[in-house]
Amino acid sequence: MENLKKTILQNTIPNHVAIIMDGNGRWAKQQGKPRTFGHKKGVDSVRAIIEASVEIGVNYLTLYAFSTENWNRPKLEVRTLMSLLVSSLRKELKTFVDNDIKLLTIGDLSHLPKKVQKELTEVIEKTKNNKTLTLTLALNYGARDEIVNVIKKISKKVVNNQLSIEEINEKIINNHLYTFSLPDVDFLIRTSGEKRISNFLLWQVAYAEFYFTTVLWPDFKEENYYKSILEYQKRERRFGKTSEQIEKNINE
Ligand code: IPE
Ligand code: IPE
Ligand code: MG
Repeated sequence: MENLKKTILQNTIPNHVAIIMDGNGRWAKQQGKPRTFGHKKGVDSVRAIIEASVEIGVNYLTLYAFSTENWNRPKLEVRTLMSLLVSSLRKELKTFVDNDIKLLTIGDLSHLPKKVQKELTEVIEKTKNNKTLTLTLALNYGARDEIVNVIKKISKKVVNNQLSIEEINEKIINNHLYTFSLPDVDFLIRTSGEKRISNFLLWQVAYAEFYFTTVLWPDFKEENYYKSILEYQKRERRFGKTSEQIEKNINE
C-alpha cells in the first residue's frame, strides 16, 4: 500500500472528491446480520477515507450520508442512521480538531432530529477555522431540492429588485447552491456496483470524472481509495478541448 501511495503522490490529486457511500445493507445481509449492522461498519470506512484524504492532500471531501429519499426507509433504520450520526460526531470531534478538518453540511437540516442538528452545529462551530480538509456531509440532501431552493432564493431577489434577470448567470446560480463555498467536484466515486447518481450533486458533477466499483462501502478502505485515485490520474480531462490542446497546454 505504501508503494501505491507513493505513485499517487507524484501525480495530480483531485481537489474535490465526492462519494456515494452505498452497499451497507447488502454487506450486512451477506453476514446474515440486520441492515443497521452494515451502517455501523460503514462508519469505519468513513474514518479510513477521511484519514486517507488528509494523507494524500485531497482538499475537499463530500460524503452522501442521507438523501431526501432515504426518509422512505423503515423507521428503525432511519432512527439508527440518525443516532449513528450523533455518536460519530461526538467521537470524531477530537480527530477533526487534531487534523485541522473543517466540517460542513449540505441539505435541509431543519427536518433532522433536534439532537442531530445540535451536534452538527457544535462540530461546525468548533472546526470552522480549520483548513487542511473540508469535509462536507450531505444530509437530507437532494440535488432537485437544492435546485428548487436556488430558484426560490433567486426569484425573491428578482422580485425585490436586488437582482435583474439579465444578471443571472452560472456564477450566481453557484453562489445560491448549498455548495456555494465548495469548488466543482473533480472525482465522484460510487461503491456497491450501482451506476447511478441518486439525486446527488447534479449541477456540481457537470465535469467530474466518475468511478464505479462493486466493492461494498464497509469494505472500501484506504487501498481501494488509492486505487480509485490512480485510475482518476489516468484520465484526460478535456473540458471540451481537443487532446492536442491539452497535451501542449495551448488554447488555439
Ligand atoms: C448506503 O448503503 C447507506 C445509506 C444510503 C444511508 P445502503 O443502506 O443503501 O445499502 P444497500 O444499497 O441497501 O446495500
Ligand atoms: C444513495 O444511496 C444515498 C446515499 C448513499 C446516502 P441509496 O442506496 O439510497 O440509493 P438508491 O435509492 O439505491 O439509488
Ligand atoms: Mg443503497
